[in-house]
Amino acid sequence: MLEDRFGRIIDYVRLSVTDRCDFRCVYCMAEDMTFVPRARVLTLEEMARLGRVLVSQGVRRIRLTGGEPLVRKNFTALARELGALPGLEELNLTTNGARLGRFAGELREAGVTRVNISLDSLRADRFRELTRTGRLEDVLEGIEAARRAGFRRVRLNSVIMRGRNEDEVADLVDFALQRGLDIAFIEEMPLGQIGEHSRQEAFVSSEELREQLAERFTLVPLAAGTAGPSRYWQADGYPDSRVGFISPHSNNFCHACNRVRVTAEGRLLLCLGHEHSLDLRAILRAHPDDDQPLIDALHRGMEIKPERHEFDLAEGEQLVRFMNMTGG
Ligand code: GTP
Ligand code: 5AD
Ligand code: SF4
Repeated sequence: MLEDRFGRIIDYVRLSVTDRCDFRCVYCMAEDMTFVPRARVLTLEEMARLGRVLVSQGVRRIRLTGGEPLVRKNFTALARELGALPGLEELNLTTNGARLGRFAGELREAGVTRVNISLDSLRADRFRELTRTGRLEDVLEGIEAARRAGFRRVRLNSVIMRGRNEDEVADLVDFALQRGLDIAFIEEMPLGQIGEHSRQEAFVSSEELREQLAERFTLVPLAAGTAGPSRYWQADGYPDSRVGFISPHSNNFCHACNRVRVTAEGRLLLCLGHEHSLDLRAILRAHPDDDQPLIDALHRGMEIKPERHEFDLAEGEQLVRFMNMTGG
């Protein structure tokens, strides 16, 4: 079992399979990005091995992220290997949705349980502006494919920014409710110098969104969530959907943290908001036939996991690491 210095049990790992993406969302990447050379990215075999070792140490849920996981060649093969691991209770996916039209069915069959799909706008022109390269209709098709594929839950993720999409919050909720989907609204986090808008000025608190939503829906707080950062409400009359809020600024959830990340380069990143990390790739490659050094490293990681993130929206205080390098 993996337990940190603060008594938190780490049984959830976010595994980034690539830092590349076919979108360039304004809050996630700069327009002109340099990606990690392929030789530095873990191979799918290394990721599958890492997944197996993580599960042997008590990890019960893995979320595959990126970048955009579905741009990685043979991604389904990795999902199939991880999906077959005895002891793994959930294999989840976070995606921009653009390629789900093609892959949703086979991923469900490979063992993927829950899928989160980013959707920040329902207006085609605005969607293009926010993603810089994305096409709304591809993502809408992906969402439909995910519904048909029969995942345990499908959730939409919306990062809300003042002056960009805060006027669409009620429409996005309505879209989710009509389809029996969950939706989560995310406060933007200061990862990487995006140069597009001021994060300080674009900040909208979850509280403000709930007030806005109260004009159209009756929201009732739910006690239980998925043991993640999202706190959920339910709209009266829509028992199949939940409306979540991820509020790193206005409601810190670090005391209940259950997770660590592995970047596409195999860096075990112990907190989204700090640079504390361990190089698992070096260990994987130095000991191809012996898992013990890897197991030891995971436990060493627990000793340096920070207590909490200290995001500060003051300009200049941002982490240099972009979200796509971090693993969603
Ligand atoms: P589950 O917990 O598996 O339900 O999903 P999730 O909400 O963690 O997954 P998703 O990939 O959809 O992430 C939504 C947002 O939450 C993204 O902006 C993540 O970066 C953020 N997030 C996820 N985990 C953490 C965390 O431990 N700390 C912080 N600050 N943000 C997180
Ligand atoms: N702050 C908050 N959320 C972000 N995401 C990407 N970059 C940021 C950021 N800077 C979201 C995406 C996706 C999820 C994995 O992370 O919208 O839904
Ligand atoms: Fe790609 Fe997701 Fe980042 Fe958008 S938020 S650029 S879809 S990794």
